[in-house]
Amino acid sequence: MKFRSAMMFVLAFGVCNLAQAAGEIVIKFSHVVAADTPKGKASEFFAKKAAELTKGRVKVEVYANSALYKDKEEMEALQIGSVQMLAPSLAKFGPLGAKEFEVFDFPYIFDDTAELHRVTQGPIGASLLAKLEAKGIKGLSFWDNGFKSFSANTPIKMPADLKGKKMRIQSSKVLEEEIRSIGGLPQVMAFSEVYQALQTGVVDGTENPVSNFYTQKMHEVQKYLTLTHHGYLGYAVIVNKKFWEGLPADVRGQLETAMKEATLYANKIAQEENDSALEGVKKSGKTIVYVPNKDEKLAFKKAMAPVHTKMADRVGNELLQAIYKETGFDPNKL
Ligand code: LMR
Repeated sequence: MKFRSAMMFVLAFGVCNLAQAAGEIVIKFSHVVAADTPKGKASEFFAKKAAELTKGRVKVEVYANSALYKDKEEMEALQIGSVQMLAPSLAKFGPLGAKEFEVFDFPYIFDDTAELHRVTQGPIGASLLAKLEAKGIKGLSFWDNGFKSFSANTPIKMPADLKGKKMRIQSSKVLEEEIRSIGGLPQVMAFSEVYQALQTGVVDGTENPVSNFYTQKMHEVQKYLTLTHHGYLGYAVIVNKKFWEGLPADVRGQLETAMKEATLYANKIAQEENDSALEGVKKSGKTIVYVPNKDEKLAFKKAMAPVHTKMADRVGNELLQAIYKETGFDPNKL
């Protein structure tokens, strides 16, 4: 009997020691969108790469669809260390005190992803991520989603069609101003609440890239979707700084490699995901998709142009001018 308990002790101790030697590091990665979106797929890709490159030492647990936290809560959770990694939309950094990130919300500031990548993948992007350090956050990368479209239950061809409409937006002051510029009524709301708010008429419409629109089934509760592509929506992948710096250097290096590969993957699939979501919306037969003509698009651009001057101070004029230089956008020349 004595021998048996001794053996059990040795075994238990052995197992325990093995686990410790293996030293599994868990990274909780929380996000608010569906798993089959650009961000959902890229976070799963990162989890797989991280396990591969660290030979199982790091386990990234991905929690999709606000399963752990909603928009505002997830930022707080990251700062106190309840989760280690997030990829919030760039429109959600204002409440954190990083207002500069709202520069990505400026209407029509990027014509396409090539222009956008000159900013996100270049020195401007790097300096924006560096600003997060003072908030206890380490910015690792930018991931794409795509360009936003407007939806409502009435047709949208011209800016005036959204006059007086309650439009759900993310928590960005620039987006508030964008909706006001076309006479709409901005309503800030967590992403997880949008479907129900549209269904019950708490809001009349919203804006998002089609991948988010489709995977949240908003096409079931919105009759019209107009491909205005009036603004960009993308993400910054962020980690709790203390956690990141406390990782063994070799593990951190492997995770950096995994993140580089996940970023290439995210930015490669984003457009494809949005294209197939658009097909899905069309096939559903529930939402009428409208492509604005040149004049209608110009009307949106002109109506929203004053947002650039009004909100320049919020993001800093120097940053804004640096981005104009990369993209060639000039709000005064439309
Ligand atoms: C939204 O809240 O509309 C989006 O930011 C959600 C997301 O993370 O793509």
